[in-house]
Formats: sequence, structure tokens, C-alpha cells
Amino acid sequence: MRWFASLPGNAAARLGLALPVDSRHALEYVHGFRVSGSTGSAVPMAARGVHLATIAHVHALEVLDSRGRPTVEVEIVCDDGARGRAILPSGASTGAAEACELRDGDPQRYDGLGVQRACRNVEEKIAPAIVGRNPAEQFALDAVLLELDDTPQKTALGANAILGVSLAAAHAAAASQGVPLYRHLHRLWSQARTRATQQQGRPAPSVPPPAMPTPMTNMISGGLHAGGNLDFQDYLVSPRGAPDYATGLEWIVRIYNRLGRLLSEAGYEGRLVGDEGGYGPRLANNRQAVEFVVRAIEAAGLMPGEQVTICLDVAATHFFDGQHYRLAATGDRSLSSDDMIDELESLVDVFPIDSIEDGLAEDDWEGWQRLTARLGSRVRLVGDDLFTTNPRRIAQGVERHAANAALIKVNQIGTLTETFAAMDTALAGGMTCVVSARSGETEDDTIADLAVATAADQIKIGSIVRSERLAKYNRLLRIERELRTPAGK
Ligand code: PGA
Ligand code: ZN
Repeated sequence: MRWFASLPGNAAARLGLALPVDSRHALEYVHGFRVSGSTGSAVPMAARGVHLATIAHVHALEVLDSRGRPTVEVEIVCDDGARGRAILPSGASTGAAEACELRDGDPQRYDGLGVQRACRNVEEKIAPAIVGRNPAEQFALDAVLLELDDTPQKTALGANAILGVSLAAAHAAAASQGVPLYRHLHRLWSQARTRATQQQGRPAPSVPPPAMPTPMTNMISGGLHAGGNLDFQDYLVSPRGAPDYATGLEWIVRIYNRLGRLLSEAGYEGRLVGDEGGYGPRLANNRQAVEFVVRAIEAAGLMPGEQVTICLDVAATHFFDGQHYRLAATGDRSLSSDDMIDELESLVDVFPIDSIEDGLAEDDWEGWQRLTARLGSRVRLVGDDLFTTNPRRIAQGVERHAANAALIKVNQIGTLTETFAAMDTALAGGMTCVVSARSGETEDDTIADLAVATAADQIKIGSIVRSERLAKYNRLLRIERELRTPAGK
């Protein structure tokens, strides 16, 4: 029996398993909020005599991301002087079901990519509704945001406006309480899971303490992220056998450097990198790319499969024409879903691959079911475009046995509360979670804390060069040290 078969009343339908519903309904269901006319109260914390900071100012600023494209920065200032800031990432290989990234469309500025409208929405429409609220009441705050924009993909205000506020509030709340962000997020995550299970009548989950995720790191970039001719988007490594995060990071850097050398020695470009910092060589085909990564692991003195596994992000939506998967790098082959599954299985048979993301296109649900039946017991099949961090789509994946892991990108869904709902839905359905950055990033390192707070299995940040990536890797180093060091030392 699927976990939701025992849900009370029409709960399964409200989660989107039978009826098309928007994410607000999933949110109401999962977290027990009445979004309309709602919002939580400050009573519980006040009753405990805890100081209640309130939001005094909300600022938004158009800044630039790692591709030089405008993005939204939000800063929240509390009445006690605490501040929280968040800068939003931006994808290139976006899923159709993602929340809306509101752009100005004014060709006179940034080729139409400006985000001044989203910034105005923050300051003029959102700020008046949240000033005076306690930023620590994240679920109530997000409920207000979802009330202001109740469109399914946040097209009214823009998910970039909404998420900026949602994340900045979490930072401000952590600062006001004098705790690291991951501690504050862990508290929220525990509450979110408890509420969800109460609502659904599931047994209470044991929420693990904050824990370090294993990185999944880009070595070679293809697809829409690099100028080479590889069909698949990312060829990654994961130091599954590393005793701790810092050691795993050293392994990754070693492999990356060996790979650059191997590529150069073989006459390929081993220095120029794609959007996420992975090498972008013009290799002959996908198989050759995986071979190079395996050789680099060996050249680093590590054991492929034992200590370091290979992961792929196929990003198949972007070479699917609605009928066929068109692999240009290998003689413009046109493959059916079943041919693609054969192709992926042939790679898993030969190489130490333990994870394949978006092996099929975002709406090829039947294909995903067959893929999961065939390879699900051998590898993680991660839904990115398939799920777009949407609790309803993840619940559908659980129901249909399509995929066994969910990629979690906060800006695909647009609030912290819904991100937690997506992760809870995945975990309750037996899936694992991979917290992920986007190809367009900034110095914002929130996802490092999110991955630790939720004890996510893996984190996918891109490669280990370029500071927008290292902001997260380095934040994880600091968190690991904090988790090891007794308080106050
Ligand atoms: P994106 O790609 O950020 O360009 O969407 C990242 C991924 O597909 O995982
Ligand atoms: Zn992806």
C-alpha cells in the first residue's frame, strides 16, 4: 500500500494525486495551514518568554549572478537590529513546471533580463504585508506570501520576489536568535515534518540532527551549460567512501586537477570551464566523458565505485523533441524512451555510476516508470525537471514509482515552507533528497545550511572552482567544524 492510501478524507486528492491542484493546496495539506485569511500567531514563543523580533524593513536590490545576469537580493532588517539577506540563483535548463522567474522584458536594460519589477513587488507589495511580523514564524510568513500570489507558478509577484523574502526572513530570524542558520532551519524542518505527519496520520518520523551531506560535484559539463558537443549536461563524482566532508572535498579537488591534466595530455581543452565550473572539452561522446572521469579518479589514487562514484545529470528534457531523444554527439541518433533506457543501462553496466538525474524528459512519466523498474534497484534515479521541487509532482512520482530521489532547488518552488513540503513528500515516499544549486549562482550560501539542517543525502553545487560554488563548499567546511567542536570553543 502506498503511504498516502491511508490518508484521511480527500487528502490524497488534495495532495494532487488525483486532482490537479496548485501548490498552495499541497501546502495547506502538508502543513495544516489555512492559507486564506490565515496565518499563525506569535503566541507559542511569546508564551515562553522568548524575545520576539519583528520585521522593520524589507529592501530589494537588483544584483548580478555568476553569468552576469540580473537577480534579486532581498534584505530584511528587524527591530532588534538583526539582518538577513538572500540572493536568488537562476537556472538555464529549467523545467516547464518551475515557479516563475519574473523578468522585466525591457530590451533597453540587460537584454530584457532585468528584475526591477520583482524588486518593486518586494518593496511595494510584499513589505507592507510582512512588516511587524516575527521572521521566525516562517510558515505563517510564507502563508502570507502565498496569499499575496496564489497563482500556481507564482506569476503574479514572481517566485524571485517571493523566495527572496522567504529566505531572507530565515536568515534574519537566525541572526536575531544568535544561532547559525542551519540550527534555525533544523528547528523549522522538524516542525514541518511533525505537522505533515500529523496531518496525514503517518507515524512520526525521526528527524535526524543536522548532518553533513555528501557532495556530488561536476567534473565535465555538456548540454546547455557548456559550448562543447556533449549531450548529457553533467558528469559528476561523489566521494561516497570519504570518512568526512573535508576529506571528500580534498579528493574531489585532486580528481578535478588530474582530469584537467588528462584532458590536456589527450589534446582536449582541459582548462576552459562551463557555467558550473566543469571542464567543457569537445569530446566525441558521452561514454568518452565518463571514461575520462573514471581515469581521473584512478589517477588521483582513489578507487572508482568504492571510494568515489560517478553521477550523471542527463537533463534529457533538453534533447527530447516530444517523441524522440536526439543525441547529437553520437551521429544524431534518434532514440525512443526504451532505447534511452537501454543506453543508460549500458553505461551503468560498465561504469561505477550510482546516480542518474533526469535520464528521461520531464513529462515522459511512462518512460520514467519503466526506467525505475529497470534500474531503480541499482542506481539513484533523480527527478529534477521531472519534479521541479513540487510536492504534487513528487507525490505523483511516489505513486507511480517514477524515480527514487528528488533534486531540491529552492527557486523551482519559491518558498521555504514548500521546499520542506517537497522534501517531506519525497522522504515519506521512500525517496532520498539531493539539495541543489543552479547553473546561475551567487555568493549566497543558504543551500549549504539547508542541506545540513535537513540531513540531505547529497548536495550538488557544481564544480570546485568559481567563487559562487566555493561559497557553499566553504560554508560546509565551516559547518562541519562547528558540528565537531563543542559549543563556545
Ligand atoms: P540549471 O541546471 O540550474 O541550469 O537548471 C542544473 C541542473 O540541471 O541540475
Ligand atoms: Zn538537472
